[in-house]
Amino acid sequence: MTPLGRVRAALAGISRVELATVPTPLQLASRLSDELAVPIWFKRDDMTGIGLGGNKVRPLEYLLADALGQGCDSLVTGAGPQSNWTMLAALTALRSGLEPFVVCYGDPVPDVGNLLLHRKLGTKIYFTADPERSSVDSGIEQLAAELRGLGRHPYVVPRGGATAVGALGYVRASVEMAAQLVRMPEPPTALWLAAGSGGTCAGLVAGAALLQASYDVVGVTVSRPVPEITAQVSRLATAAGELLGTPVTEPAVDIRGGWIGPGYGVPSPEGEQAAALVARAESVFLDPVFGAKAMAALIDACRSGEVVGPVAFLVSGGASTLFAAAGQP
Ligand SMILES: Cc1ncc(COP(=O)(O)O)c(C=O)c1O
Repeated sequence: MTPLGRVRAALAGISRVELATVPTPLQLASRLSDELAVPIWFKRDDMTGIGLGGNKVRPLEYLLADALGQGCDSLVTGAGPQSNWTMLAALTALRSGLEPFVVCYGDPVPDVGNLLLHRKLGTKIYFTADPERSSVDSGIEQLAAELRGLGRHPYVVPRGGATAVGALGYVRASVEMAAQLVRMPEPPTALWLAAGSGGTCAGLVAGAALLQASYDVVGVTVSRPVPEITAQVSRLATAAGELLGTPVTEPAVDIRGGWIGPGYGVPSPEGEQAAALVARAESVFLDPVFGAKAMAALIDACRSGEVVGPVAFLVSGGASTLFAAAGQP
């Protein structure tokens, strides 16, 4: 069997809730390509079709199926108040019959962006009163314990949905891309994307390894230090391979640092410039927290001559944060 056939067969054996409208387009960003003198292709995962779209829809297909398979009645997760992840998790949990509970770090903030969408959904939101992002982790555990005490069966998901099960969403996206790349005379030699919790990058790294793909996966960290996110992506990619019955040994993880700017969730001047260039050239709005910063890194790599061949960029969504207060993570 070919690597593609093997991965397809392994994925077919794992339950999934169908959410995304796929395949998402892989389209040439021709005006941006002219500007940078490098062919750039956009993988349009802002168009995954649920809510306002975005990359988190794909991991949720596997996470929700896992929750339903375990007989859970609720989903507990968390992040910052502007998290695309928690909003999409709540939105899709509801349609799967699971009650969503969300833990946010810090204190209550105005209902804008994703928090406004949570309010429309009626998501139960708890604030930790601690500005440390990691306070969410203990908050999630505490809330889940309280729910268990009440006889509930919560499905607990860490920040960003970054688990091996969630990473399968982007292994599946890699299979989808394989069918798109095979039709291209000059396919991209690299796929760039923003790395936050690392689940998306891990799925793509595992997918590229399992499919023996001819492109490198390059993650641009927008929140965590390079060694931390490198270790996380490597761990999750390995674990995703194990779930599929094919070990991913020494996954090729290429994480770029230096693009976080003033901080996670705070727009950077380079990111805002990159997003403006893409909006004007391609009619695509990149979100300020993830896509804009990753694009700033890719533009820099093109202008410095590091990237010359055709390259793909994952447009990962996050539209609702375009309307959030600047700097509210
Ligand atoms: C719009 C958007 N892009 C990229 C990412 C990064 O994905 P990951 O957390 O899987 O690294 C996120 C994470 O929430 C996101 O919301």
